[in-house]
Amino acid sequence: MDKKICIVTGANAGIGKQAACQIAKEGYHVIMACRNKERGKTALDEIKKANPSSSIELQIVDLGLRESVVNFVKEFNSKYERLDVLVHNAAIFNVTQKVRKETAEGIETLWATNHLGPVLMTQLLQKNLEKSDNGRIITIASKGLLAKPRLKVNLDDPEFLSNRFNVVNAYYQSKLAQIIYTLWLSQNFKDTNITANCIRVTAVKIDISRHPDLSAFMKWVYSIKAKNSISPEDMAKIYTDLAVSSKYNNISGKYFDEHSDMVTMPKYCIDKDNIKAVMELTKKYIPEIGEV
Ligand SMILES: NC(=O)c1ccc[n+]([C@@H]2O[C@H](COP(=O)([O-])OP(=O)(O)OC[C@H]3O[C@@H](n4cnc5c(N)ncnc54)[C@H](OP(=O)(O)O)[C@@H]3O)[C@@H](O)[C@H]2O)c1
Repeated sequence: MDKKICIVTGANAGIGKQAACQIAKEGYHVIMACRNKERGKTALDEIKKANPSSSIELQIVDLGLRESVVNFVKEFNSKYERLDVLVHNAAIFNVTQKVRKETAEGIETLWATNHLGPVLMTQLLQKNLEKSDNGRIITIASKGLLAKPRLKVNLDDPEFLSNRFNVVNAYYQSKLAQIIYTLWLSQNFKDTNITANCIRVTAVKIDISRHPDLSAFMKWVYSIKAKNSISPEDMAKIYTDLAVSSKYNNISGKYFDEHSDMVTMPKYCIDKDNIKAVMELTKKYIPEIGEV
């Protein structure tokens, strides 16, 4: 494959779909990593219809399941050796979720999907990223963390086994862990050609039709919120910029907002002891990360 290769997870909807489309337009070969074949195929067809010259394909993965991530990487390796950009866009957050749920592999779903899946996928694709002149890992966090300055990753109970389940805390905890993982990667890869940066996504319009369970009240709340939200296309431009622009060739361990400006990471995430503790916790689930 002569073209640069980019994987975008959760590329069938929202920001991920727009990013896949934009990065393909930049001349990259894009792999849309989606969990549902039908939704993935619909999005792929739409992107191809809008841009017939796009080099783009669909591969199925459920980020919440170790077995699925392992199979995804096997399939990738059967076709390609090198990976240039890995965009960890997929995440779950359903504000209506009241009770704790587990994946088929018995892990709390937000922790498994939003943190453990991206970590495992990155570790399994490290060798492929090393083959790139400038391998890039892009993780996704949230501006909403600004409203949770005291939140930490619950090192004793990240899966809400003994504490009462709270979907907001479960979601933001997974995003803190992703920022920490990004910093850890950038330090680990400092003598390599691989960079790792994180995007602080702001309020972005969501597709209400994807959330049929929302009450009439929550639909109204989202319609009000939408007035102060940017479009998925505009947010995806930051993903695309970080994925393709040469100005980021040597930039790693940074946090970017919706204007591509570098912003400060949450204080909790930059503390060395916290990084070590969260990575030691992560290693209990993903031994592939090696020395912490
Ligand atoms: N929208 C916002 O205001 C906002 C704010 C802050 C941060 N963010 C972050 O920005 C990113 C994109 O958000 P968005 O609003 O575009 O989300 P979205 O429209 O809900 O799309 C999420 C994507 O992730 C996929 N996904 C979910 N679970 C998955 C799994 N287990 N395996 C594989 N794919 C999975 C979804 O696939 P399905 O179609 O199969 O569900 C979908 O393609 C997320 O990381 C989110 O946390 C968003």
